[in-house]
Amino acid sequence: MILRKELPQEIKRFFEEIGVQEEELLLTTDSDLDLEGNYSTQWLVLSSTRLMNIGLKGALVWIVKEFNLNELTSVRVDRRVGNASLEVEKKGQFYEVIRFSTALIGKFEGFSTEITAVLKGRDLILTTEQQGEKEHKQKRHLKQRLSWASPKSTRKNRLLPRIFQLLKPYHGTGVLLVFLLLTGAALDLASPQFFKVLVDNFIETVALPAWFLAFALWFKQNSNIQYLLLLVLALGLLQLLRKIIRLIHNGLITKVASQIAFNLRNRLFKKLQELSFSFYEHHQVEQLMVKITQDVEELRGLILQATHNVINILLLIGAGILLSALELHLAVYALLPALFVIGLTLVYWNYEPPSYRSYWHKKAKLNEVLSTLLSRLRISKTFGQESRETENFKYYNDHPRQSMSKRGRVSGAFHPIISCLFGLGSLIVLYCGGQNVLRSELTLGTLIAFFSYLKMFYGALSQLTNINQWFISFTSTVQRIFQILDSEPKIKKSPQAVDFEFTGAISFEELTFGYDPNFPVIKDLNLTIEPGELVGIVGPSGCGKSTMISLLCRFYDPDRGRIMIDHVDLREINPACLRQQIGLVLQEPYLFRGSITENIAFGRPDISFEEIMAAAKAAHAHDFIINLPDGYDTILGERGSGLSRGEQQRIAIARAFLGNPKILILEEATSSVDPESEKAILEALEVLTKGRTTIIITHRLSTLSHADRIIVVNDGTIRETGSHQELLSLNGLYRRLLETQLPYLRNQQVTTSSTRRAN
Ligand SMILES: Nc1ncnc2c1ncn2[C@@H]1O[C@H](COP(=O)(O)OP(=O)(O)OP(=O)(O)O)[C@@H](O)[C@H]1O
Ligand SMILES: [Mg+2]
Repeated sequence: MILRKELPQEIKRFFEEIGVQEEELLLTTDSDLDLEGNYSTQWLVLSSTRLMNIGLKGALVWIVKEFNLNELTSVRVDRRVGNASLEVEKKGQFYEVIRFSTALIGKFEGFSTEITAVLKGRDLILTTEQQGEKEHKQKRHLKQRLSWASPKSTRKNRLLPRIFQLLKPYHGTGVLLVFLLLTGAALDLASPQFFKVLVDNFIETVALPAWFLAFALWFKQNSNIQYLLLLVLALGLLQLLRKIIRLIHNGLITKVASQIAFNLRNRLFKKLQELSFSFYEHHQVEQLMVKITQDVEELRGLILQATHNVINILLLIGAGILLSALELHLAVYALLPALFVIGLTLVYWNYEPPSYRSYWHKKAKLNEVLSTLLSRLRISKTFGQESRETENFKYYNDHPRQSMSKRGRVSGAFHPIISCLFGLGSLIVLYCGGQNVLRSELTLGTLIAFFSYLKMFYGALSQLTNINQWFISFTSTVQRIFQILDSEPKIKKSPQAVDFEFTGAISFEELTFGYDPNFPVIKDLNLTIEPGELVGIVGPSGCGKSTMISLLCRFYDPDRGRIMIDHVDLREINPACLRQQIGLVLQEPYLFRGSITENIAFGRPDISFEEIMAAAKAAHAHDFIINLPDGYDTILGERGSGLSRGEQQRIAIARAFLGNPKILILEEATSSVDPESEKAILEALEVLTKGRTTIIITHRLSTLSHADRIIVVNDGTIRETGSHQELLSLNGLYRRLLETQLPYLRNQQVTTSSTRRAN
């Protein structure tokens, strides 16, 4: 739904004259009836204060109705036969604002919801300065309404058990990792003790501590020089062990994180394959997959970072205890600045999450915009919109930068303040500790060891001031991943689903379906098709033909009624079996980048080249393929570029041949090709349709002359049915449809014969 349809120049001028700023308008859309029910264009305009119906006839513009928003209590759409009105409630009474035909009910229902939101004081959209900002918000608003899984579905408090679930397969490695982490931290904490002995014993000549003597005795060392050697060796060994442990630890955690990422990517991709069509309509899958891959990669990094956080926590606790054990007084002085740092950090965290989240969202938005812009690169070039697209990109590209520079200013101030506080702590310790050493109340070795622990303590604390960033990134990433994993496919495979070979009997029984269940597109439709029958379905655009096919392929499930194939409900048939036995040749041939052979044999690696060639021959494609420089190995571009539309279509038909489906659906397979190609395609199709139940959907009624039966659909129900002749003699909708095409058909005949003559 477009919330703001471009206003005609006349209305814009009128608004200028009466002082209404176009930028202020929240919603603008047009109707097709006036309040008397005559065909006429009137505009519904919502500003932040007023709701108006603006009449427009030629250059004449006037206000038909106007309401002050603060006098209104509710909005509704009132339906009547053939038309409906948007009505507002004012002091308990309903007043008609604008009238429209039933075709526009859906649109105005949407608007009524939006206006209600404004009346309830919700921050709907706009009122801000820049158009770009408005569009951005509009899209966000719509997106929220379309989102497939509520963001609340994966609450943070339920995240933890699920994260453990993710890690469960690695519990063996996990135990080893914890052991390595503990040993590593213990080794880090042990080194200063050896230094202390070194300095005290050999510089200060303090007696060796009992633990060291026992240690030396164990190695049968008893002279001073041997003690020195032992100390140096022990220190070297500690460092070496520490390095080895870090190496093993890093190797293990990288392996586990990569394995988790690999499994998640697989699970997510499988999920995307399972989700129903309605999901793909609301999400751009390529974009989603890119986002998922990025998220999973980010998660991998965050898991690695998690172990650093654990090491820092262990060091913080260990160093804290040892500091207090070495010299309690000094430890209190040293911990005073640390308390300040903790207080400051808490204040910083309070500010940080919103700004970090906003940066995070803006970055995600930029990625999304980038892939949308790239995906429409061809279109933007075709319409010469490159500079506009560049501006678009610039606009979104600027958001993370702004957010980042704001963040940068704050964190730029925060970290130097922390360093200063830590520096101050060290100076206090140096001064007080130095005095103690001078007064011989403390040995130099103890002071040096104390400093080593202090460095560890401050270092760990300063690293941990960023733990909230890690936490936010980690939880949001995991949450986003779980949101997709949790989304339920609407089309579910029944546990009793059966596989069987179709004969091709199809029946639609009292079928009702709407993309929005409140607005059925197919209404109580009944249709039976015999095995092997060739049925044409025709009807005006938008009457529901493609929808019928989507339902038959079970891309959607009906809201009421059922579809049966060979008297088995579609919902009871294994979807894989169903899709295998239904062949689709659509207006868009759905070719992909790859060789012609790959395109014909899509998804069937067991097919031999001879079979592919036989299918191409049957589809009248072989001749043009072998004339290509690389023949069957010719690589097609994106969407089959490199071939003409007629040739692409014949490749798609060859693909359908290979599938050997029992039910064949041809939807506008010959439209958008010239009469010569159409002839070739029709010949190919004639062979293909033999012995199969075939449904042909087309606007070119002339191509249906050989159909066993033609069904005329209008507004989601069957209006007429019969052979071409029977329908003509009915003098109804079919005849009218045909008559509208006659001038076109005559024209086409003239063009074809003049082309022939020219040849
Ligand atoms: N994915 C969708 N989501 C919402 N509405 C849809 C969707 N697809 C189609 N519709 C609506 O359903 C109605 C029937 O559409 P359908 O595509 O079945 O018409 P059609 O008879 O195939 O038209 P055409 O001859 O132009 O192809 C239309 O009003 C259309 O706007
Ligand atoms: Mg269609």
